Amino acid sequence: MSTRCMRNSCLQAVCSVVAGIALALCLTIPAAAAESPAYVGSETCKTCHEEIYNNLQKTPHFAIETGARKGWEKKSCESCHGPGAKHAESASADDIRNPAKLTPVETDHTCLTCHLNQRTPGGRIASGHAKDQVGCTTCHFVHGTAGAKLVEHKKSEINARCSTCHISEWAAFNRPYKHRLPEGAMSCVDCHNPHATFNVDSMRTSFGNEPGCLQCHSDKRGPFVFEHAPMRLEGCGACHEPHGSANPRMLVRHEQSLVCLECHANISMPAGQNTKIGGVPPAFHDLRTSRFQNCTVCHVKVHGSYVDRELLR
Ligand code: HEC
Ligand code: HEC
Ligand code: HEC
Ligand code: HEC
Ligand code: HEC
Ligand code: HEC
Ligand code: HEC
Ligand code: HEC
Ligand code: HEC
Ligand code: HEC
Repeated sequence: MSTRCMRNSCLQAVCSVVAGIALALCLTIPAAAAESPAYVGSETCKTCHEEIYNNLQKTPHFAIETGARKGWEKKSCESCHGPGAKHAESASADDIRNPAKLTPVETDHTCLTCHLNQRTPGGRIASGHAKDQVGCTTCHFVHGTAGAKLVEHKKSEINARCSTCHISEWAAFNRPYKHRLPEGAMSCVDCHNPHATFNVDSMRTSFGNEPGCLQCHSDKRGPFVFEHAPMRLEGCGACHEPHGSANPRMLVRHEQSLVCLECHANISMPAGQNTKIGGVPPAFHDLRTSRFQNCTVCHVKVHGSYVDRELLR
């Protein structure tokens, strides 16, 4: 047999396969349409899953069952589990969607059909943790089984949830100078939105686009006549460790002057390489004397001043 011949027969084979698929498609499409997924309603689910039904009744999600708003009245179970007629007949796990067995992204997709971009006190809801393989159901327990909550609002409970994974962040709050999370006075979601924001590290903002820190530290907001440049350019993290620090005032350096001198030192650089950021302190600043170790004794308005260019008052 010549190669050409072989190629022809190959082509023929391919053609007949394609025709076969086309035929199969023609046959199966109407068949599938006839078998389109069917809903049975929650009452049917209840006959076999009564405990779950009763528990769900006590959670906010029962609003799906009773309210027509979302379009799932009397079939709330299937709003998350998908059409259940087949499963209600077979009682087989293979015939029903179980979010616990899906990938985090798929689970989130289920929840976000109703919750995407919903506004909450903590910001809009997006799928922020899913890229880290953490889905909605890691933090939210839908059925209220065994007392598990749909949403935790108590600060200590939120902190406990977050710190199961973020061990090193939690450790920072046990340093001597820190925000008072271990005492339950604040929680992670005061500063972060667990559902993500457009900002680095899912930081929350207040008043639209200000750093969330200003919600509580509003005296640092300004607008100041004489700003201190890093406040706006780098933000609070230029000088503070926001979780907690071994240094007083949660500063990034043990000695205050070292925080300042990182930007304000007259360190000589190789010719042509000026890496200095801030201005050089005037000559009378004798850094060898203890008097100048604590810059903010004189520069008291280090966060910005209304009256003084040198941030002295
Ligand atoms: C005739 C009884 C019966 C009805 C009706 C029924 N289920 Fe089930 N369901 C079962 C049984 C039995 C299992 C356990 C299957 C297994 O573990 O193999 C189950 C398991 C499940 C699971 C877990 C599947 C998994 O992957 O582990 C979900 C979710 C579920 N049912 C939802 C529903 C919903 C939603 C409805 C209503 C649309 C419903 N069931 C109606 C008997 C029923
Ligand atoms: C808001 C979404 C949502 C609704 C509404 C919902 N479920 Fe679920 N269901 C889930 C999720 C998520 C899981 C996975 C386990 C978990 O995270 O709690 C689950 C798991 C299950 C399971 C597996 C066993 C278990 O407890 O883990 C069954 C059975 C089940 N659901 C039945 C029902 C029935 C019956 C209804 C209606 C009364 C219902 N679900 C309504 C989201 C929902
Ligand atoms: C069919 C629509 C729908 C789906 C799907 C859905 N929800 Fe909801 N969810 C609601 C409604 C309705 C409420 C009641 C409060 C409201 O009106 O916003 C609610 C409330 C909540 C609340 C807030 C409870 C409170 O105290 O305010 C959380 C948390 C929540 N859902 C998480 C989830 C999670 C997680 C999933 C996915 C497993 C999910 N939802 C899927 C409709 C839905
Ligand atoms: C890392 C944990 C975590 C994940 C993942 C998460 N949430 Fe939340 N969610 C929370 C916490 C904590 C709150 C409470 C915030 C507060 O009290 O300000 C909350 C609040 C909510 C609320 C508002 C409840 C209210 O009364 O304000 C809804 C709705 C909600 N989440 C839905 C979702 C959905 C949908 C997903 C998945 C896309 C999701 N969450 C993923 C932790 C999480
Ligand atoms: C199941 C584990 C788990 C839980 C619970 C959890 N996280 Fe995460 N989180 C992760 C992982 C994994 C990452 C990605 C790696 C990293 O940055 O540490 C992450 C990343 C983050 C980031 C980095 C910025 C970003 O968006 O990527 C922040 C902020 C964060 N989580 C806050 C929280 C808060 C607040 C809570 C509690 C409401 C929480 N996490 C609960 C696992 C978890
Ligand atoms: C006072 C506000 C504040 C609180 C409270 C807070 N964070 Fe943060 N967090 C920040 C800031 C600001 C950053 C950015 C750090 C930086 O740029 O150096 C950050 C960064 C992170 C990151 C990114 C990784 C890293 O270390 O840079 C994770 C993860 C995180 N925080 C988790 C948490 C968890 C979990 C809690 C609660 C136990 C929490 N945060 C409480 C302000 C806060
Ligand atoms: C929810 C309110 C709240 C938010 C948001 C907040 N803080 Fe605070 N902060 C406080 C409180 C309250 C204290 C005082 C703590 C104490 O006395 O133990 C404090 C203390 C501090 C201190 C130390 C003051 C001292 O005297 O030692 C610094 C620095 C600080 N915060 C910086 C920040 C930064 C940076 C952010 C944003 C990343 C931020 N805070 C966000 C409430 C907040
Ligand atoms: C250029 C460095 C720098 C930046 C940027 C900075 N701080 Fe400070 N901050 C300091 C120093 C230094 C102190 C200690 C002052 C003292 O001991 O008198 C301090 C003290 C504080 C204190 C406690 C004393 C007080 O004045 O209330 C708070 C709260 C605080 N800063 C919050 C913030 C917040 C919020 C931001 C961001 C909006 C920020 N800081 C940005 C350097 C900085
Ligand atoms: C992240 C870098 C950075 C840090 C840290 C920093 N500064 Fe500045 N500072 C600047 C910049 C940039 C300017 C604006 C310089 C200019 O306009 O030429 C400035 C301006 C000043 C001014 C106003 C005088 C002038 O040159 O315009 C004073 C006073 C000052 N800083 C003091 C401090 C003190 C005190 C600290 C420590 C608590 C500190 N700075 C920490 C970057 C920094
Ligand atoms: C004893 C009070 C005092 C202390 C402490 C002090 N300064 Fe000053 N600093 C001043 C005065 C006063 C001026 C304004 C001088 C002028 O107007 O010529 C000034 C000016 C400055 C300027 C502005 C220079 C310019 O070009 O305008 C910088 C930057 C500065 N100081 C940084 C620091 C740093 C960094 C420290 C800590 C290492 C520090 N200062 C400690 C009193 C002090």
